[in-house]
Amino acid sequence: MTQYAANTLENQWMPFTANREFKADPRLLVRGQGMYYWNHKGEKIIDASSGLFCVSAGHGRPEIAEAVGKQLLELDYGPPFQMGHPASFEVARRVAALTPDDLNHIFFGNSGSEAVDTALKIAMAYYRARGEGQRQRFVSRERAYHGVNIGGTSMSGLMKNRETFGAVMPGVSHMRHTWLPENRFAKGQPERGAELAEDLQRFVDLFGGHTIAACMVEPIAGSTGILVPPKGYLERLREICDHHGILLIFDEVICGFGRTGKAFAAQSFGVTPDMMTMAKAITNAAQPMGAVAVREGIYETVIDAAPEGAIELFHGYTYSGHPAACAAALATLDIYEKEGLFERAAELSPYFLDAVFALQDVDAISDIRGYGMLAGIDVAPGPIPGVRGQDVMKRLFEAGVYIKFTGDCGLVAPPLVSEKSDIDEICTVIREVLGAV
Ligand SMILES: Cc1ncc(COP(=O)(O)O)c(C=O)c1O
Repeated sequence: MTQYAANTLENQWMPFTANREFKADPRLLVRGQGMYYWNHKGEKIIDASSGLFCVSAGHGRPEIAEAVGKQLLELDYGPPFQMGHPASFEVARRVAALTPDDLNHIFFGNSGSEAVDTALKIAMAYYRARGEGQRQRFVSRERAYHGVNIGGTSMSGLMKNRETFGAVMPGVSHMRHTWLPENRFAKGQPERGAELAEDLQRFVDLFGGHTIAACMVEPIAGSTGILVPPKGYLERLREICDHHGILLIFDEVICGFGRTGKAFAAQSFGVTPDMMTMAKAITNAAQPMGAVAVREGIYETVIDAAPEGAIELFHGYTYSGHPAACAAALATLDIYEKEGLFERAAELSPYFLDAVFALQDVDAISDIRGYGMLAGIDVAPGPIPGVRGQDVMKRLFEAGVYIKFTGDCGLVAPPLVSEKSDIDEICTVIREVLGAV
């Protein structure tokens, strides 16, 4: 085991963490293998959320580690501006082969947040290139999570993530979220709620469709509770977008790479967006990487609008398409293909959903939602929202199960390599722990 000299936790300001509480009673992960983490006390913890929905092929994959090490020794870094290296073009080709229709152009960043802000900027660049620079507005949704950069914060629909940061980016309107009390405990796509897509039409009526650049949604709202789209909802968004020339962007940062049983949720739901953001499982989380897939027409419009020989899009990151991330992505995509993990997710999903939905008789659970290998379990909140969820998360961890909580909702998303016995283990502990709160 690697030993580090630090004997204090004080210097690191931890992200999205109750720093004081954590530092008083830390949960340090020191090892990961397959379905499991080990903490600093040597205890084994099953990973029921694939880290943060990203370690889909399980922890500690030697194929990825070896590919990254080899790449770093061969070419550790090359500037991505006006220079290139072969691996990034190969990742782009492989990803384009997985995306639906003509979403064939891939722009790289290093995270979901960067992918989201990149997609917003591409939408602006596209409309400017078309001479429609008046399209400055964006539409997203309440209970959306689109990362933490200023664009993504503006598009997100979580009060806690926004309230501190003022007005952020102007011109963003939020549709209502799709959680409806009458859909409680609905497995898969709920029957009711397609009409919530009419909120987009209302913004068209209010602002003029010709002023809206794009509508961005997570096909399944992930971080805020696994809100599965009602039947007909995404189809209706697509229709309204088509009618008014609004780009439809799917944020597939969680849904992408097999989580819904197909490469992307766009394919699971049969609705094709104009751009897709992705990150997380693209490298099995072994290296940071985010990307945006863009339709042919959008790419060509922006490229063709610039003078010959000139840079077409003034955007990019020092680490766009970093060689190590690309090596990790290629090794990961090989694993997905060789092990048929997207198909495996589709096969395992009914067992997984049945096991999770069987928990609905537990008193402390007020709702369960799920699709593919994703499920949200709402714990009935106490007087202060989120406190009970935090308490349950800690109890589960102590009982040997890691589940990511957002507020009072546990987000269960086991690796796609899970066995049925792993799912049983997770659900047994959830029942024990939640049965006792
Ligand atoms: C849908 C969605 N978009 C964007 C992000 C942000 O990704 P990152 O944390 O890699 O910046 C997340 C992270 O959970 C996400 O779920």
